[in-house]
Amino acid sequence: MTLTPLTQPLPTVFTLPTPLGGELISRVVRPGEAFELKELGLLPRLELSGRSYADLEMIATGAYSPLTGFLGERDYLSVIEHLRLADGTPWSIPITLPVSRENARQYSGRVLLTFGGEAVGTLDVSERYEAHKDFEAREVYRTTDPAHPGVAALNAAGEIYLAGDVTLLEVPRGHFPAHHRTPAEVREVTLARGWRSTVAFQTRNPVHRAHEYLQKVALELVDGLLLHPLVGQTKNDDVPAETRMQSYEVLLGQYYPAGRTLLSVYPAAMRYAGPREAILHALSRRNYGASHFIVGRDHAGVGSYYGSYDAQEIFSAYTPQELGIQILKFEHTFYCQTCGQMVSPRTCPHDASHHLILSGTKVREKLRAGENLPPEFTRPEVAEVLRAAYQLPG
Ligand code: ADX
Repeated sequence: MTLTPLTQPLPTVFTLPTPLGGELISRVVRPGEAFELKELGLLPRLELSGRSYADLEMIATGAYSPLTGFLGERDYLSVIEHLRLADGTPWSIPITLPVSRENARQYSGRVLLTFGGEAVGTLDVSERYEAHKDFEAREVYRTTDPAHPGVAALNAAGEIYLAGDVTLLEVPRGHFPAHHRTPAEVREVTLARGWRSTVAFQTRNPVHRAHEYLQKVALELVDGLLLHPLVGQTKNDDVPAETRMQSYEVLLGQYYPAGRTLLSVYPAAMRYAGPREAILHALSRRNYGASHFIVGRDHAGVGSYYGSYDAQEIFSAYTPQELGIQILKFEHTFYCQTCGQMVSPRTCPHDASHHLILSGTKVREKLRAGENLPPEFTRPEVAEVLRAAYQLPG
């Protein structure tokens, strides 16, 4: 494989952006440090939901650095009210461990965390406190509407939050082991490839032409692209992660320079918190070593709860130094029949009648009806993966 040379010679000493808080947290138990299973067997057991297990992994692998555990009440309230942890560090979404009121009482000291009945980690309980769900919903999701998927998940979870430091017994490599990398592992790959700058792209969708355009405009400016699809829990009508991963593989294989692209999964659950989630997504990608992060139109949005560019404006709450990752903001992009290319209102003089714009609902309708998606909207190879998945019986 021949690679286009990087834009400038590498400096002899080169480091990636520092993690938030200065150091990459690792709370994964190293083989030599394995807990005695006998000791674990005596601890009270707490069965995690899929969302909390994902949070445990994010904390323990350093994706949520500087967090070392689930938030205590002071940090919880501070994040909700001030978009910062109690010590002033930028943070936008409280990472909490909800349990039911009945169960909460039995948890103190060290607790064994389980998933599907298997031991996955430990929690050293430092605090138990009441969730302020209305306040949390109003500030974090900007709505208390139970139809909002993030608010619905919040309402369905327990009303007591447990706080404390965690450990993870083993990094779960999930359904995509070949693409499942911790922040330290992603950093290793980017360093080995000599990327001095990396743009991370969050997505919960197949990569359509608009996404590809944003990524490639960014790739004109930086050395590498971290395609970082979220594969934790999403809402039912989002395209399943298995189908999306197939579509990324065919797309990258044919249309992206291999030496400048890294496909790696982002194991968190989707919260649909729009602007607040854009911040979490960006800070976390800094922990993965990215220097740039793309925020386009309605990032992490759902329905019409957020303005198209709220997720870009919210970053003004922080200084660039505090953020430590450069936000690449893009306007709505789409194909213009007359320009014959991907455009945005910044680059195209034509009105809407010239533009090809398909909503997510429209795309799903077409796929269910077995229709092809236009190549100006989606590469044919991606369209074929989607069509095949939507035509499966059941
Ligand atoms: S998200 O929930 O993960 O943000 P999605 O996968 O649709 O959803 O978007 C990934 C990123 O691409 C987000 O930053 C989003 O703002 C941006 N984006 C998606 N479609 C467009 C578009 N047509 N124009 C501009 N930005 C877009």
